[in-house]
Amino acid sequence: MTTASAGVDIDRIGEDVALLDGIRTTRAIRRLRPDPVPPALIRKVCEAGTFAPSGGNRQPWIFIAVTEPARRAWVAERYRAVFLPYIQTALDAAKDPGYPEAKRRNMRAAIHLAEHLHEVPVLLFVAGWTRRGQPQTQALFPAIQNVLLACRAVGLGASLTTAHTAHGREVDEWLGLPPNCPSCALLPIGWPLGRYGRPARRPVDTCLFWDAVPAGALGGSRRAE
Ligand SMILES: Cc1cc2nc3c(=O)[nH]c(=O)nc-3n(C[C@H](O)[C@H](O)[C@H](O)COP(=O)(O)O)c2cc1C
Repeated sequence: MTTASAGVDIDRIGEDVALLDGIRTTRAIRRLRPDPVPPALIRKVCEAGTFAPSGGNRQPWIFIAVTEPARRAWVAERYRAVFLPYIQTALDAAKDPGYPEAKRRNMRAAIHLAEHLHEVPVLLFVAGWTRRGQPQTQALFPAIQNVLLACRAVGLGASLTTAHTAHGREVDEWLGLPPNCPSCALLPIGWPLGRYGRPARRPVDTCLFWDAVPAGALGGSRRAE
């Protein structure tokens, strides 16, 4: 038996996307339609998240889908308060005519997302139980990537954001999360205005080595900023 929701065949949608092609064409989709997304589809992408690995298979993840308009506006206000000052440094750098166009596009899309966050139909928070007092963030990011890949498969647009965490406990308390279950990411999800496609990445041969990194291979050309 299949489950249909708002004309979407929840059971079948996304099931035919080839895994590696899906991985190669999952990029941050930050321009989204305000149209609602069936809750059953959000359930489906979160279920994909639950197939991620985790230490001791403890599965520490908790997903909270914020959809109610006033609640989305509350989140958007806080997101903007952190993100817009943060991106100002990049905006200043982008005044240089030599600033890479790809970075400029990425920045414009990120600003668009911040300015329109309250219109995004689903704000999916990912939180996780701590262990021995430590956040298990490393167990949450594989689940988050699975959700992003599942969104790609079913045709939803999504991206990974973390700016809200700068508000500390305020957002988590508002979400009903106890101190030992902090949120670590917010995935704005909706039907995309644009299309999925291959994101810009440096060639694998610049970051893959066999047995050891040859002397000098990491020097000079590119360092972590
Ligand atoms: C840990 C982490 C935190 C991020 N936080 C934000 C964020 O707060 N806001 C945002 O717009 N993008 C955020 N991003 C998304 C990156 O900017 C995005 O992955 C990058 O621009 C590559 O995009 P692409 O896959 O479309 O090439 C974050 C990504 C990671 C891995």
